[in-house]
This record gives sequence, structure tokens and C-alpha cells, in this order.
Amino acid sequence: MKKWLLGAIFAGVAAIGAACSNPSSMQGHDMSGMNMEKENTSAETSKQQLPLATNTEVLSGKEIHLTAKEALLQINDQVKLPVYTYNGSVPGAQIRVKQGDNVKIVLKNELPEPITIHWHGYPVPNNQDGVPGVTMDAIKPGETFTYEFTATVPGTYWYHSHQKSAEQVDKGLYGTLIVEPKNEEKVDRDYTLVLDEWMSNPDEGNMDMSGMDHSNMNNGNSSDNQQMDMSSMGHDMMNMYDIFTINGKSGSAVKPLKVKKGEKVRLRLVNAGYMSHKLHLHGHEFKIVATDGQPLKNPQPIKDELLNIAPGERYDIEFIANNPGEWLLECHGNMKGTDGMKVKIQYEDQTNNTDKENAKKDLPIVDMTKYGKHELGQFTLDQKYDVEYTMDLGTAMGKDGMVYTINGKTYPETAPVNVKKGDLVKVKLVNNSPKDLHPMHLHGHFFQVLSKNGKPITGSPLIKDTLNLKPGEEYVVAFKADNPGNWMFHCHDLHHASAGMVTEVKYTDYKSDYTPDPNDTTNKGE
Ligand code: C2O
Ligand code: CU
Repeated sequence: MKKWLLGAIFAGVAAIGAACSNPSSMQGHDMSGMNMEKENTSAETSKQQLPLATNTEVLSGKEIHLTAKEALLQINDQVKLPVYTYNGSVPGAQIRVKQGDNVKIVLKNELPEPITIHWHGYPVPNNQDGVPGVTMDAIKPGETFTYEFTATVPGTYWYHSHQKSAEQVDKGLYGTLIVEPKNEEKVDRDYTLVLDEWMSNPDEGNMDMSGMDHSNMNNGNSSDNQQMDMSSMGHDMMNMYDIFTINGKSGSAVKPLKVKKGEKVRLRLVNAGYMSHKLHLHGHEFKIVATDGQPLKNPQPIKDELLNIAPGERYDIEFIANNPGEWLLECHGNMKGTDGMKVKIQYEDQTNNTDKENAKKDLPIVDMTKYGKHELGQFTLDQKYDVEYTMDLGTAMGKDGMVYTINGKTYPETAPVNVKKGDLVKVKLVNNSPKDLHPMHLHGHFFQVLSKNGKPITGSPLIKDTLNLKPGEEYVVAFKADNPGNWMFHCHDLHHASAGMVTEVKYTDYKSDYTPDPNDTTNKGE
């Protein structure tokens, strides 16, 4: 009965693995059909009739209304893409509430397929978590669903569909959730910047994903953007994400951030994409005041260091605008899309352009395990835990292509982390994949990061809901089982999740009021 859950939750991209990753299936196919001509199909024509995506609005109040609908997103001068939106924009409407508020969100689905909202990082009651087949049925076209929860913790969060999420999040179906603390420390400017990646030709991408052949990709044929290395198809699929965006815009289309000399500026950085991005703030010292919504203790000012933001993670940074001119916050690296991920910081009456891009420059990356003031957090490495679990994260060849595994299994065959309310839980995560990053995300809880590669954290207590593991890395995290339910624990490279890298934290003493209807195929995804 559980078999279709994976489909329900992450479906859509499992096919990529199947299509891309089995070297033997790539022999002897002709790739000419894959060439870049855009056909003018009827899909193309109906695309033209979609309304242009609007600017992201900010919503607050007792009852918030969201409508999921299609739009056309103008990403830069050349590229317009059909997208899925909450309220007509990408990112969708920003939900901004106060700590302690009761939040009520009425979601109407005007998309042609079922959707949900999952509140990423937010400890909502389990039945509000938005996972089809686990906590609720997906919301069908034309239907409305009301989410309700209390804004217990302040900080920067985001929300996104969890139905066929690899596909729907890719199409733009996400927004941000900002919970302002009761005693707000005032800043003069508060900007939210959401990072993402897109394919300039999604049809081609889809075609690619649904069974095109790759035979010539490794021998330098005309499709210039694919240099396929058969040993790392997953990686190379990422090359098809050739446009990087901030708030749905790329390059000069990104709206500059206005500041005035002397102002205190907060940037809330959210990665809604499937790739890590290293951001460089030019011309200013900055502090990382929070990650995944959770404050850091005594963050020290840093300068000319790169802030690495993995899929699903958030970082709140603050700086004092004390260096008039025009400066960049830009992504460093040398991917095709890197260049587009930058935003200008413009002093209002001083825009002499002195700053230069230096995206290729190698700069140190901020080490979060040493950042801020060391203090004991809630958990320590050597205390007693009720539950201990080891997650060996791996990449393997399945019978239909590449799979991403936890302890050698793919969801739903993975062993859940079984807990009871009140348990203290320690999880060791090890990335044994040769090349893949695994940003692991736990629903409904925060965990404290205790050690990296055997070394205890020496900076501020690090409390997160998404933790990025590079190949070979090992982390130990701990949390208290204080939010009964059935909760996903999965990789937020949603392509990896759809190809198996998912498990659950299951409260054995929790009785869900939701039973998926085995005859309802909606949650099946495909
Ligand atoms: Cu951001 Cu399971 O999700
Ligand atoms: Cu992964």
C-alpha cells in the first residue's frame, strides 16, 4: 500500500535517473531528435495566453488567501517560462506574521493538477504538514483547503508544494514565510532573496527526462550545453539548469536593493533550488544572524567570505550600509547560470559604479561549525539518547537507473526512525555518495548539529532543519521528539528524494486522523 507514496510525494523526476543513468541504455541511440529547435506546438500557443507573473506581494492578517495558478515568468530579456505560482508570482506571496499569531491560510487550487503546501522548517501540527499520502490528500484542481497553525517560532521559513514536488517546486510553486519575533529588533531594510535555477528550454529538459537518449552526449556533439560524463549523470543533469535567478529574475532583470548610508540592512536568503550557491557580498562586512530561522550566538563580522547556501537552507545576514556606491551580492562559481545570480545594492543618492564582478575568484567559505560564540546548546554528544540512528546516504544503480539510498534502501523500503513522544534522538548522517551533495531536511522539528567529521561544533549552537553533506562528510545531530506525527526526513535535492532518498521519523505512539484512501489515485502523482 505504501508503494505509491514515493510517487505521490516526489514523483516526476525519478524518470531522469532512469533515462540518464544507465550507461548501457545509452549505446547506439541517435540524438539528433534532441536538437534545440523549439516546436510551435499547441502547448506553446496556450503558453502565450498565460498572464505574465506579477511582483511578489506580502500578505498578513487573520486569514490569508492563496491561489495556485499558472503564469508566464519573464526571467530575463530573452527567456519567458511557463510557471506554477501561488498568487501569480514567483516566488509566491510572502506570508508575514507575528510570533504567537494564529495563521490561517486558505489555498485554492486553480492549477491543472493536484497540489499541497508544505511549511518547510516550520513545526506545524502533523496534519498541517502538507505531505500527500502521509498527512493529507493532495488538493485537486478546483478544490480549496485551509491550513491552520500557530506561529510558535520566529524566523525565515518557506513553503512549497509537496505533491510531485521535484517537478512542482521546479516550476516555481513556492513562497516565503516570515515570522516576526514578538520583540522585534528593528532594521531599516528587510529584503528576502530567493535563489533558484531554471532550464531555458524546459520542454527539452522534460524530453530529456522522460526517456530521450543520450548516446552522443559524451562525444562533443552539437548540443553545446551538455557535456555528459557518463559517470555522473545526476551531476550533469544539473548542467541543464542554465539560468540562475534571484526572486525569479536573472542578471540585470533582478531588482536592485536600495539602501541609504547608515542603515542597518537584513537579507533573508532562501534556496528554493536544487543546487548549492556560494554568495559573496561586496564592499561590506556582514554577520550571519540566523540559519533556518534559528538565531546564532554572537555572530562575528566577516568580509569577503562566501556564504554557501544549500537547497532548502535559509541564512539571515545583516550589514550596516557604510560604504556608499553600488555593490553586488553575487554567486561565485563557474556554472552556466552563475552569472545571472547577482543583485545590485544601490545607495540611494550615490550610485557611482565602482564595483566589479569577481564570480570566478576563489574565496574562503564561511565555516558554520566554527561561527559565532561557543556555548552549550540543548544537546551534547555524550549524553544519553533514547534512540540512535545512522543514515548512510548513498548512490547506486537500480534496475531502472540511478537511485539515491538510505542504508542501501530507497523509500518506502527505508527503515523509519521510530520514536515516542519525549524521546531524545541522535542521528548520524554519512554521505557515502562519490559526487552528490545531500542537503538533508527533517520535517516538523529542528535538530542541533553536534559534530562534523568527528569534531564537535566549536561555534554557536547550530540549530537547523536542513543540513548539507558533501561527499565523505559525517555529521551527528540530535533532536527531541516533541511534535507527534509521521514526518519526512529526506534529501532536498528533490531529484534525489524522488529517486529514493527519503525516510520518516515515525512516532509509534501517534495515531493519525488521516488514512490515505487506497482507491484514490490522486496522490499517486503520475
Ligand atoms: Cu522543503 Cu519535504 O520539504
Ligand atoms: Cu541528495
